[in-house]
Amino acid sequence: MTGPAGLPPLLIATSNQGKLREILAILDGVPFELRTLADFPAIDAPEETGRTFADNARLKALYYAERAGLPAVADDSGIEIDALDNAPGVHSARWHGTDYPTKFAAIYRELAARGLTTSPARFVAHVALADRGRIVAETTGVIRGEIAPQPRGTHGFGYDPIFYYPPYGCTLAEVDGARKAAVSHRGQAFTALRARLLSTLGASPPSKQA
Ligand code: IMP
Repeated sequence: MTGPAGLPPLLIATSNQGKLREILAILDGVPFELRTLADFPAIDAPEETGRTFADNARLKALYYAERAGLPAVADDSGIEIDALDNAPGVHSARWHGTDYPTKFAAIYRELAARGLTTSPARFVAHVALADRGRIVAETTGVIRGEIAPQPRGTHGFGYDPIFYYPPYGCTLAEVDGARKAAVSHRGQAFTALRARLLSTLGASPPSKQA
């Protein structure tokens, strides 16, 4: 099946607008008609019951591919903080609610309870592409940094204001999207997926489900 532009469709299956913006920028120009969940308002989000980023990325990609009847790519990601035993991890989106100032306060409180003001931390992303009931590609990315002494910056989304990246000397919320994507977990994972889409998968693209 091809879309209006004569290209095979590919659903970017995320309802997180921050992620979506970054993914669309990285996949710009791939030979697929990129669709988003805005085209499928009737599809509810699945429960993310996996214990790992990989489990949840696969679960979401398979779920959305099946519901939409299109190849679908899903990103599961989060922040792991060493001093908090790698929390929030797969629970990053809902850990201490969904309000980021509240979440940041919880992180600083939990660090203070351990006598700390900072900790090594990393963002992790696992990306899965599903087509006709199978996972046909998977990529990953990790960026290592540390928890900033206080939130800084207005770019990006989520935990970016408290993620200090030493090579840049600032948080990921203090750089624009292109600079973040050049080093970020999602940048690595989707740059690798982009290469797959342009080579093997592009040569025999995932197709519409029967
Ligand atoms: P998911 O939808 O379960 O994958 O949740 C991902 C959550 O991890 C997001 O809602 C953010 O809280 C956090 N997260 C993932 N990637 C980033 C990022 O690039 N910057 C900031 N926070 C992120």
